[in-house]
Amino acid sequence: MVSVPDTAHPLAPAWLATPGDANDLADLVWPASAHRAGDGALVVGGARATDLAERFGTPVLVLDEQDVRDRAARTRAAFDAATARHGGSARVYYAGKAFLTSEVARWMLDAGLNVDVCSRGELETALAAGVPAERIGFHGNNKSAGELERAIGAGIGTIIVDSDIEIERIGAIAERLGACQRVLVRVRSGVHADTHEFLATAHEDQKFGFSLDEAERAVARIRALASTSFVGLHCHIGSQIFGVDGFRESAARVLALHERLLAGGDVPLLNLGGGFGIAYTRADDPAPIEDLADGIVDAVASECAARGIAMPTLAFEPGRSVIGPAGLTVYTVGTTKPVAVEIPDGSAQRLYVAVDGGMSDNVRPALYGAQYSARLASRAGDGAPALVRVVGMHCESGDVVVDHEFLPDDVAPGDLVAVASTGAYSAAMSSNYNHVPRPPVVAVRGGEARVILRGETIDDLLARDTGLHPAHTEGER
Ligand code: LLP
Repeated sequence: MVSVPDTAHPLAPAWLATPGDANDLADLVWPASAHRAGDGALVVGGARATDLAERFGTPVLVLDEQDVRDRAARTRAAFDAATARHGGSARVYYAGKAFLTSEVARWMLDAGLNVDVCSRGELETALAAGVPAERIGFHGNNKSAGELERAIGAGIGTIIVDSDIEIERIGAIAERLGACQRVLVRVRSGVHADTHEFLATAHEDQKFGFSLDEAERAVARIRALASTSFVGLHCHIGSQIFGVDGFRESAARVLALHERLLAGGDVPLLNLGGGFGIAYTRADDPAPIEDLADGIVDAVASECAARGIAMPTLAFEPGRSVIGPAGLTVYTVGTTKPVAVEIPDGSAQRLYVAVDGGMSDNVRPALYGAQYSARLASRAGDGAPALVRVVGMHCESGDVVVDHEFLPDDVAPGDLVAVASTGAYSAAMSSNYNHVPRPPVVAVRGGEARVILRGETIDDLLARDTGLHPAHTEGER
């Protein structure tokens, strides 16, 4: 936690100190390439925010392509190196739920990653992008028979099974298709990690996976079926996790089961999920991926050594840490409004800065109370730092874009504001709330910008309305 300086604003949370310069770009929060041009405009991937806004409109989600590619490659290298030191090997799956387009899938392939999908739409995107089916892992607690048939028919690499019913479903479909489907069994280790803390219980009360006790029976069933092949256990303990302790505890518990399962045959793989935390604000302090990889893999290796068993191939599924910090969203300021807020010994001012997007393009602040960082992007401001709340244009008071931030107090209508670390779970979770078209996603690299996911238009919205377009029929879902 950041200590509260004397200059703290009475409405600012303890972690947010009044900055000396409200134009600075904190390391880790902004993409590696982000800097200010001579005239103060924000530049990312060699492209000026002003040019991007003019060409693509606002809001626009900008992905620093090289940063994503570098993060993917670095993650792969970190786990390769960490496992190689113990004579083992690793596989990294990119969790497509964070944000997936065909281009993003190809960036992952280029970096040597596999792709994890959790729906028919993600599966079709990965396949259409040319991801070899055997390099795809398929997740979900309620995969439909149709989804499974498509996946097995395409030759999907692994399916992570989540229930007894699903085992039977996969067995029957694979048998009918003449396939032998490789499956992992998802377990609840009883460890749930949330940012810096983790909670360990005997049984976790949540919908995913099998308890460690139940899993043995599930594995026996998979091994008994001719059309399914058991390849290992899977465990994901949460998201936006900073330390290695939760992973360590979870791995120890899962390896106890892994060892018991060896009595019945090979268990070549262990998938420990994703969840590595990123910096949304300067109060977040993510460890370098190399340190996380070493810490987790060393713990697994010593647990295996203590049990006298070989270390399985380890798999990981990061989404957020690969793409989140490489993205930022550029908005245009429409209005500003000082609001006086009562405090115990008087009143303090918060400046509301309203932008042209909001909870439809990033629901995380409204949904999770997620904190973000913002900066003026069209210029560097001259004013003193003012405590602001960046809000959207939706008809809802919870429509917050950045809850607590300092911006120069000369922020004004027409300014561009950029919000950092929006690469993961913002476009992926976007909606058309209030009939707002979803913004485009633009990749920038070496000063070149290109749309990788086009923005919606009002026509797109109206096109689904059968009162206006009665000829439309249902497509396949
Ligand atoms: N593997 C599994 C099985 C998962 O359920 C998830 C995330 C991941 C991998 C990737 O986790 P990551 O490395 O991206 O943290 N919508 C939320 C996050 C939910 C994540 C659900 N599962 C958010 O916006 O924070």
